[in-house]
Amino acid sequence: MKPYFEYLEIKDLFEISRGILELLPSEEYDKTFSKFHDPKIFKNIPGLIDVIEKIGPYEQVDSVYVIYQDPSGFIPLHIDGYGAEDGRGVVLNIPLQACEHCFTRVYRKKENLTKLNSEIIDLPDYLVQEEANHLVFNLSDLELVAEICNKDQPMLLNTLEPHTSVNNGTNTQILASFWFNPLLLW
Ligand SMILES: [Fe+2]
Repeated sequence: MKPYFEYLEIKDLFEISRGILELLPSEEYDKTFSKFHDPKIFKNIPGLIDVIEKIGPYEQVDSVYVIYQDPSGFIPLHIDGYGAEDGRGVVLNIPLQACEHCFTRVYRKKENLTKLNSEIIDLPDYLVQEEANHLVFNLSDLELVAEICNKDQPMLLNTLEPHTSVNNGTNTQILASFWFNPLLLW
């Protein structure tokens, strides 16, 4: 079974985060919002390719999804897609800004549960760019595996396990999520 998540050490994290931020539109987003970017535009950031190639060739990055999450932004507890066949296996999340009070929560199915109750919902408008639908779960069916502070801590996340993100701070967090080809082995 794939791990739920894995920390990734990036020695030039500050420079890489700044390099990504500089290539993003300069508008100040003060709401929860998300946007896709072509991975090619980030390819020349010094040190980034070395980081990506710890996981796989840079060409295996399908897209870079940047998430702006304000403190009241709601991201439902979900897995990406509908399962292994059409969901992603792994993303690399890199903190860009104001991530010190933001947490990714990763869950697993309770042991005595034979079937997860899930429903397919339409995502809130600010997340519709991500995917048309997500499977969303009841918290009572799940156990918390980890709550990982996003600050200074890039991580690989298995997006086929239930996860969510919370912002307990007062500023909008910005996180870059590098989406790998779902067939990439991790
Ligand atoms: Fe997700």
